[in-house]
Amino acid sequence: MSTKYELKNLATSKATQMDAISGTIGPDVINIAALVKEQGVFTFDPGFMATASTESKITYIDGDAGVLLYRGYPVEQLAEKSSFLEVATLLITGSLPTKAQLDSFQHSITRHTMVNEQLLRFYQGFHHDAHPMAMVSAIVASMAAFYHDTTDIYDPRHREIFAHRIIAKLPTIAAAAYKHSLGQPSVYPRNDLRYCANLLNMMFSVPCEPYAIDPVAAEALDLLFILHADHEQNASTSTVRLAGSTGANPYAAISAGVSALWGPAHGGANEAVLDMLDSIGTVANIDKFLARVKDKNDSVRLMGFGHRVYKNFDPRAKIIRGMCYRVLEKLGKTDNPLFELSLRLEEIALKDDYFVSRKLYPNVDFYSGIIYSALGIPRSMFTVMFAIARTAGWVAHWQEMVSDPQMKIGRPRQLYTGPKRRDYLVIEKR
Ligand code: ACO
Repeated sequence: MSTKYELKNLATSKATQMDAISGTIGPDVINIAALVKEQGVFTFDPGFMATASTESKITYIDGDAGVLLYRGYPVEQLAEKSSFLEVATLLITGSLPTKAQLDSFQHSITRHTMVNEQLLRFYQGFHHDAHPMAMVSAIVASMAAFYHDTTDIYDPRHREIFAHRIIAKLPTIAAAAYKHSLGQPSVYPRNDLRYCANLLNMMFSVPCEPYAIDPVAAEALDLLFILHADHEQNASTSTVRLAGSTGANPYAAISAGVSALWGPAHGGANEAVLDMLDSIGTVANIDKFLARVKDKNDSVRLMGFGHRVYKNFDPRAKIIRGMCYRVLEKLGKTDNPLFELSLRLEEIALKDDYFVSRKLYPNVDFYSGIIYSALGIPRSMFTVMFAIARTAGWVAHWQEMVSDPQMKIGRPRQLYTGPKRRDYLVIEKR
């Protein structure tokens, strides 16, 4: 029998009973639907600190224990044994694919990597110093104007084609944004290359000389993409769900997710971490910097630290920290001064009562930027890399929502604190 909760208006003694709903793991949630009907009140939860916005079977996080499961599988096991495209199919379909299923998915992704040639012309409208996230968000939204054959969101086959298209084309779109910023011609995808190797080739090869893809770089990127692939109802995923809940074109919903990811409190943190490390400069300046972070009158934050859900080590940060040294070693870049600085900064912060008492630990972005920069990826492209990986999660959540016959438009309510009703005054009387 489910646990019952009761909410009682102490002035009128009117009580409403509500059922707790249990998931497979994690805390129960209270179904508050009866509250508005019986008591005429809404719940108030700014920032959704205590609200489960949806039911989902995709990803589970235990923030206190530092656990992250994709469809039940620990992210540590997937990081060690899987590949990004296998994880993408796991997130979308719910099961680990058989060899034949994975081959078929990889084949389909590879065959959808080219974008309509007209789309490539859109980049010409952007100034060379446009942020790549602005370009990616705009180009993804404009895909809604190109692929009219798959816009019936209630048709499973249409949804599948959309899913394969967006996962396949995002690297092409991202690399073209980077090439535009350099003033170089965009590079067409190569179907003989794997997902991340193809992305590196599109970003770094030029028509005038051969480019050798570094397998260490491709492997590191694949691992980072696994770690970034999904994270349940985070800000960008919730944005994709909310936009998609109106029945909007799915490319438009993904574009909304790209925009939400861009902020420095979310996916933009990887870029902000390196800017922060640059501004700190040397180990000698760490104490001065942390004094600013702790000063309530200063808006500076220790970027890459803290998380809404994790009040313990972010399991992804642990994996990335470990891989950081291995990747730098393999690339022959262990004398990376930013890595040294970040290790020291982490060590000092983890002993500092300000961070300890607030349970602020390194998150996934504290180290990801260091690996990206060691791979030669420019800072402005860090969040774009995140967006490519997170597209798998966005698609899985969008699919889960749209295929649910109970899908409802997302429409939160508010606590109104503006003026009460008042009458219009003609301008002479104001
Ligand atoms: N540096 C300094 N203080 C911090 C930090 C930080 N990075 N993060 C939280 N705090 C402090 C707050 O000032 C607050 O202190 P107070 O209780 O004295 O007022 C307390 O810790 C709680 O912080 P909130 O902002 O209320 O926590 P919230 O859950 O809303 O924010 C967030 C989480 C946005 C991630 C925050 O920790 C932050 O801004 N971190 C830096 C940005 C970052 O790394 N973002 C990436 C997150 S991971 C991702 O999206 C991929």
